[in-house]
Amino acid sequence: MTFNVVQANMLDKIRPSGIRKMFQRASGLEGVISLGIGAPDLQPPQELLDTVKNLLDKRSHAYTLNNGVPELHIKIKEQYKREYNLDFSDNSVIIGAGATQLMYGAIFAYNNPGDEVIVPDPGFVYYPTIPLMAGANIHPIPLDDEFQFSPDLINEKVNKKTKMLIINTPGNPTGTVLNEKSIKGIAEIAIDNDIVILSDEVYEFMTFDGKKHIPMAKYAPENTITLNSFSKTYCVPGWRLGYATGTNEIMEPLAKIHAFMVANAPSLSQHAIGKFMGSDADQQFRDNLRDTMQNRRDVVVKEFSKIPGVTIPEISGSFYAFPKINSEYYQSDNPGYEFAEDIFENAKVVTVAASEFGDTRHDHFRISFGSADTDTITEATERIISFVESK
Ligand SMILES: Cc1ncc(COP(=O)(O)O)c(C=O)c1O
Repeated sequence: MTFNVVQANMLDKIRPSGIRKMFQRASGLEGVISLGIGAPDLQPPQELLDTVKNLLDKRSHAYTLNNGVPELHIKIKEQYKREYNLDFSDNSVIIGAGATQLMYGAIFAYNNPGDEVIVPDPGFVYYPTIPLMAGANIHPIPLDDEFQFSPDLINEKVNKKTKMLIINTPGNPTGTVLNEKSIKGIAEIAIDNDIVILSDEVYEFMTFDGKKHIPMAKYAPENTITLNSFSKTYCVPGWRLGYATGTNEIMEPLAKIHAFMVANAPSLSQHAIGKFMGSDADQQFRDNLRDTMQNRRDVVVKEFSKIPGVTIPEISGSFYAFPKINSEYYQSDNPGYEFAEDIFENAKVVTVAASEFGDTRHDHFRISFGSADTDTITEATERIISFVESK
């Protein structure tokens, strides 16, 4: 007799990630250029790696406190004070196994089945998925033509059941930094309607042309849980380390669930980053990473503008571009998907169709320049152009 495996009902709501599927299709194939995966390819800071080596002989292998090691809490709080003049108190920081785990925890900690969560469309793939698993309903709100999250559009959807609003700046997949008008407007809505804002700011340090990131906590301190991560900042996504900050009151439910979800985040990563964060080497690394990404961004804009039928919206932060396919080139219900498939099959370039990120921008596709240097970007563009011209 075979065991008939029946999955939990909530899993019926989940569609496997197309990004991972594409990743799998491409792996093992010769000559593929990937502009698909959202991770930076720089070597992590050497001082940080040396710190890990030194810690191997010490007592850094035990469980830590549920919310993380105090040294790292202090460094995170100092950073918010230094960068934004924001003060967080004693129980206001939780270290997690990546921003992903804290996102999961926060969504489950605040939403009952039937509650409503507002998410941006297009938006990071986890935003609609996790609330659905928690039994909540989602309201995807289209970003406006500049990919700002318009307070007016959000206001139309807010009702008594709205419990949480998820925002993301700088944005994945759009590469857009939310402006002060959007941040202030969203803050007012949350304050007026008692809504928790889950503000995903994992690309905080990757803003271009001198543009400043504006933390949501500046305008809605009592309503906001800020999510952040070391994955992108120090190019260590496999270390699984992120953090959440907020007032003691708003962090309490998250702390409760966190303790039972993960016990604690990886200890070695916490101790090492606790020692490294805030050093001169840290600042130099961040500056260099941002400059590298800005340089790649410039090449993406220059090169992708040469592709017939493709226009490229402004990229002010993160390491994503979200080009648009003009309708005369692809007459289809899902041009972004067709284009991504075609250039994968014919030009061996991996990108991600916009339909992975929501329902409103099917004429776009996402490219990540996190792991593609300028020569790679140029070669990818040449291949795409020669495919498009041969059509
Ligand atoms: C917007 C956004 N939030 C969160 C994450 C996940 O970060 P972490 O590696 O800390 O789980 C990602 C990763 O791609 C992301 O793009």
